[in-house]
Amino acid sequence: MHFKHLSLLALAGYALAQDSSTPQSLNATLSGNDQLSNLTSFLALQPQLLDTLSNAQNITILAPSNNAFSAFLNSSAGSQLADDPGLVAALLSYHVLNGTYTSSMISNTSTFVPTLLTNESYANVTGGQVVEAIMIGNETVFYSGLLQNATVSQADQNFTGGVLHIIDSVLTLPTDILSTASAANLTALRGAINATNLIDTVNYTPDVTIFAPTNEAFQSIGSALENLSESDLANVLAYHVVNGTVGYSTDLVNGTSLQTANGANLTVTVENGTVFVNAARVVTPNVLVANGVVHVIDNVLNPSNTSLAAPDATTGAPGFTASPGTEVPFTSGQPTPTTQINPTSEGPGPAETAASSSSTGAAAAPMRTGAVGVGALLGAGAAVWFL
Ligand SMILES: *[C@@H]1O[C@H](CO)[C@@H](O)[C@H](O)[C@H]1NC(C)=O
Ligand SMILES: *[C@@H]1O[C@H](CO)[C@@H](O)[C@H](O)[C@H]1NC(C)=O
Ligand SMILES: *[C@@H]1O[C@H](CO)[C@@H](O)[C@H](O)[C@H]1NC(C)=O
Ligand SMILES: *[C@@H]1O[C@H](CO)[C@@H](O)[C@H](O)[C@H]1NC(C)=O
Ligand SMILES: *[C@@H]1O[C@H](CO)[C@@H](O)[C@H](O)[C@H]1NC(C)=O
Ligand SMILES: *[C@@H]1O[C@H](CO)[C@@H](O)[C@H](O)[C@H]1NC(C)=O
Ligand SMILES: *[C@@H]1O[C@H](CO)[C@@H](O)[C@H](O)[C@H]1NC(C)=O
Ligand SMILES: *[C@@H]1O[C@H](CO)[C@@H](O)[C@H](O)[C@H]1NC(C)=O
Ligand SMILES: *[C@@H]1O[C@H](CO)[C@@H](O)[C@H](O)[C@H]1NC(C)=O
Ligand SMILES: *[C@@H]1O[C@H](CO)[C@@H](O)[C@H](O)[C@H]1NC(C)=O
Ligand SMILES: *[C@@H]1O[C@H](CO)[C@@H](O)[C@H](O)[C@H]1NC(C)=O
Ligand SMILES: *[C@@H]1O[C@H](CO)[C@@H](O)[C@H](O)[C@H]1NC(C)=O
Repeated sequence: MHFKHLSLLALAGYALAQDSSTPQSLNATLSGNDQLSNLTSFLALQPQLLDTLSNAQNITILAPSNNAFSAFLNSSAGSQLADDPGLVAALLSYHVLNGTYTSSMISNTSTFVPTLLTNESYANVTGGQVVEAIMIGNETVFYSGLLQNATVSQADQNFTGGVLHIIDSVLTLPTDILSTASAANLTALRGAINATNLIDTVNYTPDVTIFAPTNEAFQSIGSALENLSESDLANVLAYHVVNGTVGYSTDLVNGTSLQTANGANLTVTVENGTVFVNAARVVTPNVLVANGVVHVIDNVLNPSNTSLAAPDATTGAPGFTASPGTEVPFTSGQPTPTTQINPTSEGPGPAETAASSSSTGAAAAPMRTGAVGVGALLGAGAAVWFL
């Protein structure tokens, strides 16, 4: 990496320095903060992007600190960046939110905010790949690919085009579904997708929502899966895919009906903040992927059995009548996970509503899912869903 434009940029910053009451240019804001010299260097290598950002209005920049870059560049994701300017541009674009989001606008219920990452080589989400924004305790947190989190360390630096927050980690670009499934230990699902030749369909169809059964879910109905033909298995998998809608937890409101790629519908039920799809429970929501979102569920869905969760259920029920297998099916030949998704992001907690989550403390991971409560209260998601 070379940083030859750095001094020019720094000079531009000096020339534009102003008193603190009027917002500074982006150049001045970047070069005036000694935690941002690495970001400044990266942007200087992307003159087109810098020019776009310098002239943009109504944006929010999530600016990784030098410490964040230092950790990132020493990671395997960081080392991939060195010789790939396209990837650098995509990653930096993912750090720019479309709209001005001051920290006071981010609440303790999740919102899914579009970024300027629209390049189809890196994302197939209409309107731009998103980050999940939420206030946890007194900290503003952004979740990105593989549920990795970044926390705001210095908020609300105004500049002429919007606002900038310094964050303590570089965001993770959401990756494709198969890689995400590996990282999340969803190896049975990955193997089943491979066994039915659905890899390209699943990875490259834009704007999908995938309900992803855990390995345990597949194993628990081993006897039913043994007898499925390849086309029957493909049919079952298609029932886990919603094509044409990226449905985040905020959209999964009680009573929502979703048409799947199989043709049959799924029904969402929300009981005391716990989200069910038919009778399966969502155990980890909102894993962002390159072409949409994955919600991990605790049972395999059955297009021939659309029964709903019992009203007082805390865990899901299987969609198949079957006995467990001795091993996790479809995993033969599948790669062992190397990256893990964030293990602290646990998914829906009990009785989480907008009203009650306002008093929750910083340590409670289930707070992320307060979003489900708010979505249910607003009720708007159901209407938006089919547009
Ligand atoms: C910021 O710096 C870049 C690169 O030096 C330059 O292209 C751009 O015009 C500058 N923008 C402003 C508003 O000064
Ligand atoms: C990155 O930041 C570190 C300080 O944390 C600094 O020593 C280094 O020179 C910076 N690199 C660039 C290219 O700005
Ligand atoms: C920002 O979002 C608006 C819609 O809210 C859209 O019209 C606009 O094209 C987006 N801007 C960019 C740079 O993606
Ligand atoms: C800023 O962007 C947000 C999100 O796209 C939009 O809702 C809002 O109307 C925009 N505001 C202005 C002043 O353009
Ligand atoms: C987005 O879709 C296009 C067309 O199907 C495909 O070529 C591209 O690889 C996809 N991008 C990602 C990040 O999966
Ligand atoms: C949040 O509160 C803790 C102590 O309660 C404090 O150490 C920390 O600096 C605060 N963080 C922010 C972003 O205000
Ligand atoms: C952020 O991720 C780290 C591990 O990478 C984890 O220890 C921490 O609990 C996470 N924080 C939140 C708020 O999810
Ligand atoms: C930043 O801009 C907002 C309006 O967008 C304003 O309310 C706030 O006072 C400004 N902050 C500073 C430090 O000037
Ligand atoms: C798919 O399965 C075949 C064997 O059936 C294996 O050779 C191949 O590596 C698998 N591919 C993926 C992406 O899992
Ligand atoms: C992955 O899932 C399998 C089967 O449920 C389990 O035995 C294994 O411990 C899991 N691995 C990790 C790293 O979580
Ligand atoms: C959720 O919807 C079901 C019918 O689909 C209804 O019986 C139940 O009362 C609803 N629950 C809430 C909390 O609104
Ligand atoms: C997804 O929907 C689009 C538009 O309706 C359609 O062209 C495409 O074939 C569908 N893909 C799958 C895998 O169902």
